Order: sequence, then structure tokens, then C-alpha cells
Amino acid sequence: MPVKHREFFKKQVCAMSIEIEVLNGDASWAQVHPLFHAVWPPEVVATLPWAGITFANPDLRVLVLDEAGDVVSHVGLYRRVITWNGQKMNAAGIGGVLTRADLRNRGLATIALNAAIQTLRAEDAVNFATLFCEPDRAPFYMARGFQPFEGQVYIEQPDQGRVRFEATAPYVHDLKRSAPTRGTLDLCGLPW
Ligand SMILES: CC(C)(COP(=O)(O)OP(=O)(O)OC[C@H]1O[C@@H](n2cnc3c(N)ncnc32)[C@H](O)[C@@H]1OP(=O)(O)O)[C@@H](O)C(=O)NCCC(=O)NCCS
Repeated sequence: MPVKHREFFKKQVCAMSIEIEVLNGDASWAQVHPLFHAVWPPEVVATLPWAGITFANPDLRVLVLDEAGDVVSHVGLYRRVITWNGQKMNAAGIGGVLTRADLRNRGLATIALNAAIQTLRAEDAVNFATLFCEPDRAPFYMARGFQPFEGQVYIEQPDQGRVRFEATAPYVHDLKRSAPTRGTLDLCGLPW
């Protein structure tokens, strides 16, 4: 599959030279798979609150690569027409935020997240972004511009149709408009 979207820049972090790429989600899966497998192998996923849930595949991925070209941090981006209180709107999803265990707390996920927000802002038509996380990760996101969404969230799942999503808590980030923080969000598809 051709890479439809590709952006690229270099940066120096803690004496480590990194490169940041924004790539087509499907085309870059093979490149990020080793990182996913290292952080979230099936036996770990089985213990998490979102075990058994079917997730969407990202449309784009922000990749942070080390000098060897290995992906060391990742953020997935999703574009979706969702509904808020029944009203259709263009929104974005952010998911699959992860950094290789030996390179954490150096700001890599922050760089990837900032690149993700910058990419979404550049798209212009995206009103706000949502992500879902466990309670202990919430301070990380709230220190980076996210706020809690205090309403209800609905998703779709194979064999179940439309169901309420409560496995992890929703957070929102303003983009073109202020994000809603109450009411009913329907992701109108698989979650992220
Ligand atoms: C959460 C995670 C992506 C952070 O990556 P990172 O590259 O270390 O992040 P940064 O260096 O940019 O920032 C570090 C921040 O993450 C916080 N953090 C790191 N691991 C954490 C954890 N397990 N629980 C809670 N907070 C954590 C640190 O306290 C720090 O916050 P602060 O700078 O506001 O004090 C990384 O720990 C990870 O991959 N965890 C496993 C996968 C995961 O849980 N992903 C999030 C899914 S919502």
C-alpha cells in the first residue's frame, strides 16, 4: 500500500538523536509492530482493562525513531465523524501512546504527542481530539492539554453493535474548537 502521508523531522533529545515521522497507519504497522509487541504482548494485554475490546487501526502514526532507525515511541491518530449529543462533527482520536521501556521519562511520548496535535491542527477541519486512558496515566495527559470528558461514550463492537464504553476514561483536547466535556459522545465505530 502506498504511503499517503509522510512528514519528517530530526531532533536532539538528551544527547540522543531522534527522527520523527508521520506515516500512513496501515503502511507503517510492520515498522511499529516490534514496539507494540514489546510493550503490550498478548499476555500483558490480557491483564489490562481493555482486554477483549476490538480497536480501530490508526489512519496515521507518529513514529519517533532512534539513530538505528528503530521505533522507540509511537502515537496513533484516527479521523472520524462522530456525534456529540446526536450532532455530527469531525473529530480525531489519539491512541496507542507508548514508549520503549528503557527510554521512558526522556520526553519521547511528549514529543510524539505534540507532533500528533500539530498534525491534527494542520488538518484544519478537526474540531477536537479524544483519547482514553487508565487513571494513573491521566496526570500525564492533563499536563499536556487534555481535560476529562465527563459524559457518556458509545462505541461499536463486532457482534455487539453499539455499546457503552467504560473500560478506560475519556479525555479531550481542543483543536479547531473547544472540546465538549459533557454530554454523549458516540464514536460511531470501533474505539481507539
Ligand atoms: C506513558 C508512556 C507512553 C510515557 O512515555 P515517556 O516517553 O516516558 O513519556 P515522557 O518522557 O514524554 O513523559 C514522562 C511522563 O510520563 C509519566 N509516566 C511514565 N510512565 C508512567 C506510568 N506508568 N504511569 C503514570 N505516569 C507515567 C511520567 O510521570 C512523566 O510525567 P511528567 O513529565 O508529567 O512528570 C510510557 O510510560 C509507556 O509507554 N507506558 C506503557 C504504555 C502506556 O501505558 N501507554 C499509555 C496508554 S494511555
